[in-house]
Amino acid sequence: ADEPLVLGIETSCDETGVGIVRGHTLLADAVASSVDEHARFGGVVPEVASRAHLEAMVPTIDRALKDAGVAASDLDGIAVTAGPGLAGALLVGVSAAKAYAYALGKPMYGVNHLASHICVSQLEFGAMPEPTMALLVSGGHSSLLLSPDITSDVRPLGATIDDAAGEAFDKIARVLGLGFPGGPFIDKAAREGDPSAIRFPRGLTGPRDAPFDFSFSGLKTSVARWVEAKRAAGENVPVADVAASFQEAVADVLTMKAVKACKAEGVDHLMIGGGVAANSRLRAMAERRCEDAGIELRVPRPKLCTDNGAMVAALGAEMVARGRGPSSWDLSADSSLPV
Ligand code: KG4
Ligand code: ZN
Repeated sequence: ADEPLVLGIETSCDETGVGIVRGHTLLADAVASSVDEHARFGGVVPEVASRAHLEAMVPTIDRALKDAGVAASDLDGIAVTAGPGLAGALLVGVSAAKAYAYALGKPMYGVNHLASHICVSQLEFGAMPEPTMALLVSGGHSSLLLSPDITSDVRPLGATIDDAAGEAFDKIARVLGLGFPGGPFIDKAAREGDPSAIRFPRGLTGPRDAPFDFSFSGLKTSVARWVEAKRAAGENVPVADVAASFQEAVADVLTMKAVKACKAEGVDHLMIGGGVAANSRLRAMAERRCEDAGIELRVPRPKLCTDNGAMVAALGAEMVARGRGPSSWDLSADSSLPV
C-alpha cells in the first residue's frame, strides 16, 4: 500500500499512548495508563505522570510495533503530541519521538493534541469531511472547534470559561462518594436514576451569553449545595437521581451548543471526541438532536475518544499524505500550544 505508515506518540496527560496507522487504517493502539497511581490523589499528579511516561515509553513503543507487525524501519514518519498538556509529560513524548526519528532517519511531526482528537475519527469513519465541526470534551478541555483543514487550520469557536466537562464529572463523583475518574461511575449510577428529578442550571445559555462557550462551575456548585442540604437535613441522598440530573444538564448544554454551532457555520457533520464522549446520555442525546437537525454524527468508539497514540498517528499520516513538512529537531513541547 502507498498510504503512509506512521507511528504516533501521546503523553500529554496520564496515558502513555503509542499507535500505528496506515492511512485511515488502525494497526496498533497500545496504551499504558498511570490513572490508578493518581486515583488516591483524586486527580492527575504531574510529577507522577512524567515518571510513569518515562518508564512506559520504550515498552509501549515495542508493543505497538509488535501488535502492528511492522518494522520500525518501514515507518514513513513519527508523530508526537507537542501540546497542549502537562509540560513534563509532553517532554517525555517529544524526547522519545526525536530519539527514535533521528536514530531511524525518519521525519518527525509535532502535532496538536486537540486536532488529533478530531482526526482520530478517520480511523473509524474514513476520510473526514472538511470543514468539520468537533465537540471535544475531556478532563482537560471542553471546546467547539471548526476545522477547514485538520493539518493546518483548526479554529476555536468556544470553550469552557472554567471547568472542563470531565472535571465536573470527576468533582460531582467525589461529592457523591463515587470513584475516580468520576465519569464512568456517574454514567453507571445515572442509569438507575431520573434525569428530570432535579432541575440543575444550564450555564451560559442566556440570550446575552457567548453562544459557544461553556461553564460548568455553577452547575458543580449547585449540585454540591443540593447534596449538602440533603445531608444537613439528615435525609438520604438519592445518588442515582442526582447523577442522572447532573448528567442531563451537561449533555443538554453540550449537544444544544454543538448543534447550534453546526447550523451557524452551515456544517452538516459533527464529531465528538475526548473522554466524556464515552458518556451514554451524551451519545444518545447527540444522536437524537443531530438526526432532528439533519446533521451526521461521528462519535468514535470510547477507546479512540480517550487519549491514545492512534489519534496522533492518524493526524501524522494526514500530514504525510498532504505533503506537509516535518518539524525541525528543535521542536519543543508547549503546554499551552494553541490550535
Ligand atoms: O480524554 P480523557 O481520557 O483525558 C483527558 O482529560 O484528556 O478524558 C478523561 C475524562 C475524565 O474526566 C472522565 O471522568 C471522563 O473523561 N469520562 C467520562 C466517561 N468516561 C470518561 N465522563 C462522562 N461519562 C463517561 N462515561
Ligand atoms: Zn485529550
